[in-house]
Amino acid sequence: METLKTPEQVEAMMNYLAQPDRKPVTYMYKPPGGAPVRTWHVAKYPVTIRNARPVADELSLDRQGMLLVRAWSAAVDFYDDDQVRRAYYPEVERLVKQVAGAARVMAFDHNVRCGAMAKRGEKGVREPVKYAHNDYTIKSGPQRVRDLLPAEAGELLKRRFAVINVWRPIRGPVEEMPLAVCDAGSIAPSDLVPTDLRYPDRTGEVYSLAYNPAHRWLYVPAMRPEEALLLKCYDSAEDGRARFSAHGAFEDPTSPLNAAPRESIEVRTLVFFAS
Ligand code: OGA
Ligand code: FE
Repeated sequence: METLKTPEQVEAMMNYLAQPDRKPVTYMYKPPGGAPVRTWHVAKYPVTIRNARPVADELSLDRQGMLLVRAWSAAVDFYDDDQVRRAYYPEVERLVKQVAGAARVMAFDHNVRCGAMAKRGEKGVREPVKYAHNDYTIKSGPQRVRDLLPAEAGELLKRRFAVINVWRPIRGPVEEMPLAVCDAGSIAPSDLVPTDLRYPDRTGEVYSLAYNPAHRWLYVPAMRPEEALLLKCYDSAEDGRARFSAHGAFEDPTSPLNAAPRESIEVRTLVFFAS
């Protein structure tokens, strides 16, 4: 991959989970009785976030739990839910299948994010997530398979499966609020703190990340729409390969003053392997 004239690394603040006294809960809707949207507190830590481009060839889903690929996308309007599901999901499925060497891939969910559009109340557009987290846990990974494929789940869960996100800029290069990814190999199991994600109709579970100075953070400076980041959020394998990683948006101190707000889309996929 071509190396742009971008910084080797940036020093930035990352939002971690402050040591909780009970299981953290995040509400994805207006919680009842005026309860806070988050029952937990953020702890800000300075971190070094290295440029992933020079090491892109060394990254793998099984070690760092992330991969940077060059993958053009068919022209779809990423803000049109229908088009994304009809035209973009199959493309993402093909990409993940090929890159991960999977037998079957099913895209099942996506988010479009732009801070400015979300603040204006544009429908379906969310803000970047400014804290370190991993989308699935040891419990919610298999639960997603049971929820989405109830008839087949029993069979499918006998073999290896994973959850992989495909993250891509909608417009580029990204000038602010880039996504940082934490090398799975630098995360201790105790850094991953199960956190409830309450929806009106179900409760999901994610991992919040507790601070550990060992964390190795990477990002892709000035990331472009023809590039995609694959983030492994779950792997059922217990053979030493990466099972969870973590990611979060950060305020980039090198952003230009009049930076265009970051626009991105992430698609979540269930990834099934032959063995
Ligand atoms: C994700 C995610 C946050 C962001 O892709 O799972 O958490 O700010 N993204 O893009
Ligand atoms: Fe996420």
